[in-house]
Amino acid sequence: MDIINSLKWRYAVKKFDSSKKLSNDKIETLKKAFNLTATSFGLQPVKMIVISNKELQEKFVEHSYYQRQVADSSHLIVLCINNDTTSEDINTYFDLEKETRGTSEDVIGTFRKQLIDMYKNMSINDRQLSANKQAYIVLGNLLTVCAVEKIDSCPMEGFVSTKVDELLNLKELNLKSVLMLPVGYRADDDVMNGTKKVRKPLNQTIIEIN
Ligand SMILES: Cc1cc2nc3c(=O)[nH]c(=O)nc-3n(C[C@H](O)[C@H](O)[C@H](O)COP(=O)(O)O)c2cc1C
Repeated sequence: MDIINSLKWRYAVKKFDSSKKLSNDKIETLKKAFNLTATSFGLQPVKMIVISNKELQEKFVEHSYYQRQVADSSHLIVLCINNDTTSEDINTYFDLEKETRGTSEDVIGTFRKQLIDMYKNMSINDRQLSANKQAYIVLGNLLTVCAVEKIDSCPMEGFVSTKVDELLNLKELNLKSVLMLPVGYRADDDVMNGTKKVRKPLNQTIIEIN
């Protein structure tokens, strides 16, 4: 199936078949795709929590405006951001680059300092906003990978982040939930299964400059 057909196949699932489980291989693919997502300066300020515990998933329903996808999906992915991006995080990145690529401090030292200064001069709100944007890039990447891998999914902003943080004790981990992605298999009787895509025509959303 070509990529456009895969993207047409994907839709935001409203009802998952709760009896079907994704294989470990599929979940491993999603973990690797998450890790390979591009992030600003490579800082990876996003963490992915993968839940496959029905009892726990059921507890998400009331904090997700009673959207059942969180409980009926095979796995519930919660994307979280680090509460802050610190100088230590930036140093960790550059140290990893040195270890991975053998780059010398002479080459990266100036950039390391510039980046640390840049982040120090931002407000914590701006640092969180930047991390938030990276989470949306992860979501987009995972949605496409799901489509290619024939994994059904539903991107979700519709949940109360503070309640999810409490449920998963995220404060203790210095994390904040920002997005969810239940994944699994669509139910045959999902009302949205097989409905036409609602999209503006290309000539209304794309401007070509030659
Ligand atoms: C960031 C984001 C948040 C969304 N939140 C929800 C949600 O909470 N519940 C839901 O059922 N769909 C949610 N959606 C799905 C959109 O409504 C859906 O993608 C859009 O209507 C286009 O339909 P399609 O994805 O089926 O092609 C969300 C989509 C995105 C990108």
